[in-house]
Amino acid sequence: MQVALVGLGVMGKNLALNLIEKGLTLVAYDTNPDAGAELISCAQSLGLAERLHIVSDLGDMVRRLESPRSILLLVPAGELVDRVCTDLIEAGVAKEDIIVDCGNSNYKDGITRKLKYQNKFEFATMGISGGAEGARHGPAMMASGSEGGWERIEPWFEKVAASYNGESCFARVGQSASGHFVKMVHNGIEYALMQLIAEVYQLLRHGTERSPKEVAAIFEQWSQGSLNSYLLSISSHILSLETEQSEPLVDLIDNKVGAKGTGLWTAQNALELGIAVPSLVAAVQARHLTNTIDTHAAKEMTYAKKATIKVDVDLDELKDAFYMASLLCYRQGLALIKGASREHQWKVDLAKTLQTWRAGCIIRADYLDDIAQGVEFIDTLEKESAALRNVAGLAMASGLAFPVLSSTQTYIATLSTPSNGHLVQAQRDYFGEHGIKTHSGETCHITDLVELESKVR
Ligand code: 6PG
Repeated sequence: MQVALVGLGVMGKNLALNLIEKGLTLVAYDTNPDAGAELISCAQSLGLAERLHIVSDLGDMVRRLESPRSILLLVPAGELVDRVCTDLIEAGVAKEDIIVDCGNSNYKDGITRKLKYQNKFEFATMGISGGAEGARHGPAMMASGSEGGWERIEPWFEKVAASYNGESCFARVGQSASGHFVKMVHNGIEYALMQLIAEVYQLLRHGTERSPKEVAAIFEQWSQGSLNSYLLSISSHILSLETEQSEPLVDLIDNKVGAKGTGLWTAQNALELGIAVPSLVAAVQARHLTNTIDTHAAKEMTYAKKATIKVDVDLDELKDAFYMASLLCYRQGLALIKGASREHQWKVDLAKTLQTWRAGCIIRADYLDDIAQGVEFIDTLEKESAALRNVAGLAMASGLAFPVLSSTQTYIATLSTPSNGHLVQAQRDYFGEHGIKTHSGETCHITDLVELESKVR
């Protein structure tokens, strides 16, 4: 089987090596000839160079491929995807050929492109997670759509993807461009889990005055059990690192956090769809806040020093709270996928979605087994729920900032305690006559229920 790959950056190069190692013959192209030369040399060192053909232009690529063609794009999201598609049309791709966009593209672009290219070739989308290491040895692959070409390449992707208990982490999760939506939400959850771990570190370091190395040891201990996850284990490793002068490595790193945009898209889509994902939104804003600190630096630092107090945290309770908060981040992401799937009629299969996240991706975690039983089980965790409430309270009392921890506690509390929405609805009707709905299902105004002597407007 022969496939082509356009874009030999970090992800492209590593996926290329993975593909040829699994037995595929690859025709690869990058505008930078050095990228092709580097790939050849890596393939040679693996003894696999005969499975690789580097071409110097897309015309050559199209000519070399047997029809129907299968072409993977690993180019940066945005305009470049369209430019490559247009060039491939000029180079001679045909209607039965499949072109799969494997970058971190916005799913909305995927929907537009499906229409735009429908008579030129089969345009398909697939989100890939796992960074360079994942691409090289087995990523999570969130594909979607029912384009004809999938049947040809799907069996190969099942081998190329990571596997968990013998089950592949490749899946076509739903219709249209839902694979990119699922990958986007994966990243939204990724932002939230990263921030949550950073907040637990913050609480232990500045709230209980432990060193980064001591926090690393706690994370390491948690990683030995059911809390094991990729993000927790890399955080433990990072926190254990010290310079030659025995300074914690993290203390040398600037606090401003960057972002490429998928977390922001997750938040935007959730807000547009009216689906609450407060922990995921808080994580995006937490990154934004790190970039605004400078503006009031001196003032805020003095304030923080005054406001921070030492707190006494029970480590077992913290562990339970962290577990609960992590589960709730996935719960929000899955609710968003479910809502979007309903809205767009994508028929996204949540079990298949979770299957792709079991290994290879950045948010892989042993406790995904628990979520696979159904998200409802999260709501039955009474001990962990109480732990989250206590820890969130203690954390806030320290005076330090915990955007994701506090949003997650607010999320579960909102779902499980008496609501105050009735008062807000009444306020809306009071000044704007927007209407209210009573418990018996009747729609009316508060004036229909009571005599209001005077309204304050
Ligand atoms: C992955 C990652 C990967 C990347 C994102 C997030 O699943 O392999 O999510 O896609 O790390 O681009 O990056 P930012 O933090 O820069 O938004």
